[in-house]
Amino acid sequence: MKIAFVASEAVPYSKTGGLADVVGALPKALAKLGHQVEVILPRYRMTKSARALPEFASLTIPFPASFKFAAVEAGTDPAAPQTLLVDCPEYFDRDGLYQAAGQDYPDNAERFAAFSLAAIEFLKRSEEPPAVIHCHDWQAALVPIYLRHTYARDPFFKKTATLFTIHNLAYQGVFPPALLPRLGLSMDLYTMEKLEFYGKVNPLKGGILFSDYISTVSRKYADEIQTIEFGCGLEGVLRARAGRLRGILNGVDYEAWNPATDNLIPAHYTPENTEGKKISKKALLEKMGALKPQLAKPVIGIVSRFATQKGFDLIEAVAPKLMAMDLYIAALGTGEPRYEELFRKLAVEFPQKFLVKVAYDNALAHLIEAGSDFFLMPSQYEPCGLNQIYSLKYGTVPIVRATGGLDDTIEPFDGQAGTGFKFHEYQPAALLACIEQALEAYRHPAAWRRLVQNGMSKDFSWDRSAREYVALYETLAGARKTASLAAAI
Ligand code: ADP
Ligand code: GLC
Repeated sequence: MKIAFVASEAVPYSKTGGLADVVGALPKALAKLGHQVEVILPRYRMTKSARALPEFASLTIPFPASFKFAAVEAGTDPAAPQTLLVDCPEYFDRDGLYQAAGQDYPDNAERFAAFSLAAIEFLKRSEEPPAVIHCHDWQAALVPIYLRHTYARDPFFKKTATLFTIHNLAYQGVFPPALLPRLGLSMDLYTMEKLEFYGKVNPLKGGILFSDYISTVSRKYADEIQTIEFGCGLEGVLRARAGRLRGILNGVDYEAWNPATDNLIPAHYTPENTEGKKISKKALLEKMGALKPQLAKPVIGIVSRFATQKGFDLIEAVAPKLMAMDLYIAALGTGEPRYEELFRKLAVEFPQKFLVKVAYDNALAHLIEAGSDFFLMPSQYEPCGLNQIYSLKYGTVPIVRATGGLDDTIEPFDGQAGTGFKFHEYQPAALLACIEQALEAYRHPAAWRRLVQNGMSKDFSWDRSAREYVALYETLAGARKTASLAAAI
C-alpha cells in the first residue's frame, strides 16, 4: 500500500519532542511490513542530509494573493524511508521550528498552510495517488481541510483516505478568521460546525472534522480527550466523532534507544550484565558537575521539554523536601523561560544535588536514561510519553503520574510484578509519597533487581502498533474505494 506521512518534524531531520521520534520510526516499521511510505517534512535550518531534486526545483504553492514557490529535496539518511523536504526558506530557514525565545512565530498559520499545500501539490505529481495520507498534529491538519474543500473535485485524490493523529491536543494552531482567504480557504468554513472556535479559526478542529479517521497515541488519552478536563475545548467535537477515534500506543525504535547498542553512552549493558549501567551512572554524575560522585545514592533523571504539561510546578512544590533526602536529581530540558529559570534556581539553591543542564542535548538525554536509577514524569497530561518507555529498556525505573500513555505503559510494582511507580492525584503530597515508595524499593536489593529486570524485559517495539495502523489504513482505503466509508467503520 502507498502511504504518505505529512508532519512537521522527524528524526534525523528535525526534532523538538516525541513527534519526531514517532514520525522517524513508524514509517520504518511500515516499510519493513512491505508498504511503500513517503514522509513529507519541512526543511528547516537544522535539517541536514538533504539533496536537491532537480525535477522539483520549483513547486507552486497556490496562495490566492501571491503564489509562493518551494523546492522539494530528498532526505539522504540511508536508514530513513523516502523523505521529501519542502524547502521554502522564507518560512522554514529559521533557528526554531515553531518559535523563537518562547514565543510562537506570528506567521505559523501561513507557514504550515504553505507546507500543507506544498505536500498536496507534490503528491499530485506522482503517478499514483497514496491510498492514505497520514497527517500529524495541527501543523498538518490543514491537509484534510484542503483535500475536502479546495481539492474536493480533484479526481486524483478521490480514493485517498486521510488519517489524522493527535499527538498533543493542547497545540491547536488557532488564527484569526481574516486570514482564511489569504490561505486559499473560503469564509464558508468559518462556522461552528466547521473551523470556528471562540472567534478564531482552529485547524486542529478541522483535522478532527475533515479526516476519515482520527487516532491518538494511547488508549487512555483517547478516552481522556473526550472529557472537559483534558479536551482543551474540543471534547464535544471529539465525542461527536468518537466512533472514528481510537488510541494506538506509540512504539520505540530500539535501534536508537537500547543500552546494548547505544553509542551515545560510555558502556553497553544488557539484562544479563548491568555493569555498564554503573559506569554510565558515574559518567553522568561527572558530566552534570558532581565533584565526588557518590554512586550509592539514587539518581532521579528528568529529560523534558519545559512546558506546563510536564508537571514542573509539582517538582517546585516538593523540591525542599526532596532535597532533604539522600539523592541526586539530574535534569535536562529547554523550553518556556519560566521553567528554565526555575530549574536554574533549584540548581543554585541545592548545589551538588539538583544537577541541571538547560539545553537541547541528545547525547546527554541518552546518558541520563542510562545513568539514572529513576526517571521522573509527573505530567498533568501525557498523550503517550516516550521517555518512560525508553527508561524501562535502560533499567531506569519510571515514577509517573497515572495519566494518558504513562498510565497505559507503566505497571505499579508490588514487590514481585510491575515496572514502576504511579500516583494519581495531581498534588505535591501524592508525588512525594510516590517517590518515597520508590526509594524504599531501591533500599532492598533483591526487590530492586526484580523491578529493574521486569522493566528491561518489556518489549514496546513498533511492530505491533505498526500492524494496527496497517489494519486501519486498509479499512479506510477500502472504504474510500467503494465510497462506503460510513458503512465500513
Ligand atoms: P514530548 O513529545 O511531549 O516532548 P515525549 O516523551 O513523547 O514527550 O518525547 C520527548 C522526546 O524528546 C524524547 O526523545 C526526549 O529524549 C527528547 N527530549 C526532550 N527534551 C530534550 C532535551 N532537552 N534534549 C534532548 N532531548 C530531549
Ligand atoms: C507529543 C506528546 C507525547 C507523545 C509524543 C509522540 O509530543 O506530548 O506524550 O509521546 O507527542 O506521540
